[in-house]
Amino acid sequence: MEDVQFTVNGQSHELQLDSRVSLLDALRDHLGLTGSKKGCDQGACGACTVIADGRRIASCLALATQYDGAQITTIEGVGDQGAPHPMQRAFVEHDGFQCGYCTSGQICSAIAMLAEHRSGAPSVVTADLGAAQIELTDEEIRERMSGNLCRCGAYNGIVAAIREVADATEGSDR
Ligand code: FES
Ligand code: FES
Repeated sequence: MEDVQFTVNGQSHELQLDSRVSLLDALRDHLGLTGSKKGCDQGACGACTVIADGRRIASCLALATQYDGAQITTIEGVGDQGAPHPMQRAFVEHDGFQCGYCTSGQICSAIAMLAEHRSGAPSVVTADLGAAQIELTDEEIRERMSGNLCRCGAYNGIVAAIREVADATEGSDR
């Protein structure tokens, strides 16, 4: 067993965990934060996406002990019914989900993805790597969100939701 301390959604937690426990299992089974979902448990679907120290990660592939001292945000910390995050509101308005199983991962991923874009990080479909500001086209959104699968196929709504938030916060064009 190892001592692990991390801050989740602004609250500090100290846990004693087997070194093989994934961050996803620590969040769900030890802290009761079940918003992050386990889809594949092997890094292929994105349902478990959380934000760790500002970066989106597949928490099923992360060992909890790797994140000792980290600041972690899960969907429970993004917003709630009384005060939804703009991305949550946009997913509702644009039908960005059906069953909802992938949605918490989609939303965490989308929020961190926009921060990556703002930082100037290119994607594999970025045509102009020298651009001062990479245009966030729908193709860019789809590529940058390609690690988050939706078996319900709500992709058009997901892209529309992200597009709305991006346009509101970044002034980007299609
Ligand atoms: Fe982590 Fe699928 S459950 S990527
Ligand atoms: Fe059902 Fe995406 S909304 S898997």
